[in-house]
Order: sequence, then structure tokens, then C-alpha cells
Amino acid sequence: MPASLPPISRRDALQAAAAGVATLAAAGGAHAENPSSDTIKVGLIGAGGRGTGALQQTLSVPGSNVKLMAVADAFQDRVDNVLRAVESMPEKVDCPEERRFTGLDAYRKLIDLPDIDLVILATPPGFRPFHFEAAIKAGKHVFMEKPVCVDSYGARLVMEVAKLADEKKRKVVVGLQRRYENRYRETIQRIREGLAGEIIGGQFYWNGSSIWYRDRKQDQTEMEFQVNNWYHFNWLSGDHICEQHVHNIDVANWVLGADAPQGYHPETAYGVGGRQDLSKNSEIYDHHAVNFSYPRGVRIASQCRQFPGGSNRVDEEFQGTKAYVKIGEIRDYDGKVLWRFDGPNPNPYQVEHNELHEAIRNDTPLNNAFYAATASFAAILGRLATYSGKPHSWNEALAMDYRLMPEDPTWESTPPVLPDDKGRYSVPMPATYKIVNVTTIGKS
Ligand SMILES: NC(=O)c1ccc[n+]([C@@H]2O[C@H](COP(=O)([O-])OP(=O)(O)OC[C@H]3O[C@@H](n4cnc5c(N)ncnc54)[C@H](O)[C@@H]3O)[C@@H](O)[C@H]2O)c1
Repeated sequence: MPASLPPISRRDALQAAAAGVATLAAAGGAHAENPSSDTIKVGLIGAGGRGTGALQQTLSVPGSNVKLMAVADAFQDRVDNVLRAVESMPEKVDCPEERRFTGLDAYRKLIDLPDIDLVILATPPGFRPFHFEAAIKAGKHVFMEKPVCVDSYGARLVMEVAKLADEKKRKVVVGLQRRYENRYRETIQRIREGLAGEIIGGQFYWNGSSIWYRDRKQDQTEMEFQVNNWYHFNWLSGDHICEQHVHNIDVANWVLGADAPQGYHPETAYGVGGRQDLSKNSEIYDHHAVNFSYPRGVRIASQCRQFPGGSNRVDEEFQGTKAYVKIGEIRDYDGKVLWRFDGPNPNPYQVEHNELHEAIRNDTPLNNAFYAATASFAAILGRLATYSGKPHSWNEALAMDYRLMPEDPTWESTPPVLPDDKGRYSVPMPATYKIVNVTTIGKS
């Protein structure tokens, strides 16, 4: 039987209420498949920027007894850094040397620890489907960052593993934080109530400045360089349409789909894109513009851009038969405000973890993996359209033999893409673009 939790303090209860969640005081602890205590024991896989943030958030869930037990990262310095970042909460860290793992197989050593209840997956997204599969098969609860896949193979795998998570009653939260933000939740609730009429079109944008580039270090192998500079390689990041724009795509799926449990998605994508900034040696595009066609003739236009000099814009808007929606505000077509969000909007990155712990302790259903796979694959569909210059349909693309991530890569593996004899990585061109999979990539 699960142990009951220690009483929550009044201060914790107030904090939890302020963060928009029910207190955990009355909840039973049903965390690991074989729970041995009321502490949620956490393992972190991928100890970079977001992994560190997610860890701090999970350790800060009000009223939840939680401890970091293990860390895994490709590189030793990231393990050292994250442990320094949580030095201020020593009572929540029990991570001796023997539970600190490095290398590309480090994830497996962490997941094999029977006492870990919850794993945070925050590596580059190409690894995500495989780490998710290993974690769920081992009976862990999961917090994983978006996107959750970079190719058709990975999308199908996440969809399958999502079903297994439900069967095993494992709780899964994905870092699509707009789903955990009151401003979005309440706007979409008003749309559901019919305030804007039927949604028939929309636009969304992630137009921003340049993304980071991690230069090659002396003595680094090609594999080490690519894993460290992962954003610039499709097999690791899926391009920024997948890595970043997935947030906006997920909002469109959410607005248009009536909370479809398996996720709602476009039927086709058609678009253009390219790389303007050739000062960076990268294989991803730095801009995409995609039209997504949804059922019932609904069309959504999207743009994402990563180069300086333009005006930046990150938001989503939709046109309904009665009114016009910007997240947080609904106006009729004469400009009259019908509704405006003015409630509390607690940090969604924290709310994600608050609600995950609550579901773990109460054993209530919570599994974001279906809609996250759907949003991630819609982004991949957009990328296929811009790389090929041709329309792609959901059904054909999802079924395709399209796999970018090699089977269990090691530091000794040859990466699936290599630079040419001038040291440049090739950027996809519609005229020559071919659908690849890991068995043919780089071999002809
Ligand atoms: N939800 C959000 O707002 C948000 C914000 C930033 C990043 N993210 C997502 O978080 C993920 C990580 O991004 P980041 O900004 O933290 O990148 P990062 O480069 O700072 O961190 C990634 C970490 O993963 C490690 N790693 C690489 N391959 C690994 C492997 N096979 N096993 C174990 N560790 C491995 C790297 O060494 C690095 O420490 C990405 O999927 C990104 O899209 C989400």
C-alpha cells in the first residue's frame, strides 16, 4: 500500500493555492510501481539549460516530498553544473558519485535504478522517443521536454509508448507549457463555449532572432561536436520548426480539436523555407512559412524565423464565425472586446510539475504524450513540406519509412550527416531533397 504523505504546512498550502493547484495534503503516494516511501525520487536525463530548470521546478513543488537521486548526461561538465545549480537545496539532493552517469548510454544506467520514480527527459529531442520508451517500460513516471520526436519512426514510437503509459498508469507531462498557462486555458475554454463561433482560420508565429551556435572545440570528435551543437542537426533537433515552433502548432491543434484524447492534427502541409544566414555552418533552415490544412476546410498559416533584423513576433490568433481571438482576448469584428483574460497567470513551467506530482500522488490520469506526439509530428510534416517544396499529407508521412536517429548511437558511431570536403553541412534543397532513413542516410 502506498504510504500517506506527511502533513503539508500552511505556508506550502498557500503557495500551492497561489500556483493554481490543489494541495497535495490529502493525497496518497502512488508513485513508483512499487512505492517504498512517500518521497518522489527523481532522475534527470539531460542536464543542460532546460533540464536544470525542470529539475529546480520539480524540486520546488509546494508540499511535495521530493529528492534528486541520479543524473545522466552525455558530458561530465553538465552533470557537475546541474549539481552546483541545486546546491542551495541540499535536503532535496542525494546524488552520490555512483549515481552520476555520463555518455550516450548514461540514460539506460539511470533508468535501470529501481528506486527512481520520476525521470526528467531533457536531452536533444532526437533521443526522446527511445528514452521515453525505456522509462515507461521500466515503470517510471515521466516529465519530458518538447518536441518528442524528429521523424516518422519516432512519432509512431511515442504514440505506441503513450498507450503503454496509460496501461501501466504512468503519468506523463510534456513541456508544452502553454497547456499549463491560465491565459491559454481560459481563452480556449471561451472558444469551447462558443464565444467566437466556429473557428475557420488562424495564424501563428515564432519569428525571432538567431539561435545559439556551439563552435567546434579542439580534440572534439565529429559525434561530440554534433551532439553538443545539436540544434543545427536534424537528426538531433528536427530543425527549429520542430524544436520551437511546435509550441504554436500545438496551440492550433488544441484550439481546433475538442480536446481529442489522441490529439488533433492537420491533414496536409504545404510551404516554403530556406537558410538566409550562411555565416552559420548548419544543416537546418532559418525560416519556414507553412500552410496547414485541417479538417472541414480550416486553414492555418504559420511562420517561424531565426535571424536578426526583422521584427519579432511570437503568438497565435484565430478567426471564428462570430469573433476574432488573440490568446487572452476575444473581440467581435467591430472591435468590441467580448472577453479579456485578467486572472492570475502562475508560471506554467512550475504548474507543469505541480500537476504532475498531484497526479502521481493521487493516481489520477495524466498523459500528455499523445498530443505532444501529434504536435511534434505536425511540425515534422511542415518541415517535409518546406524541405521538399511539395505538399505532404499526414497519413502518408506518418506511415513513411523515415528515420533520422540511428539505433543507440555511441561516441564511436559515425553521425548520420557529415560535412563535405570544405567542411560545410548541406542545407536541404527542394530540387534534390530526398526522404531518408537511417539505413540509407550518408551512404550514397
Ligand atoms: N519548454 C520550453 O520552453 C523549452 C525551453 C528550452 C528547451 N526546451 C527543450 O529542452 C530540451 C533540451 O534543451 P536545452 O536548451 O536544455 O539544451 P542543452 O544543450 O542546454 O541541454 C541538453 C543536454 O542534453 C545532454 N545530452 C545530449 N545527448 C544526450 C544523451 N544521449 N544522453 C544524455 N544527455 C544528453 C547535453 O549534453 C546537454 O547537457 C530540448 O528538447 C529543447 O527543445 C524546452
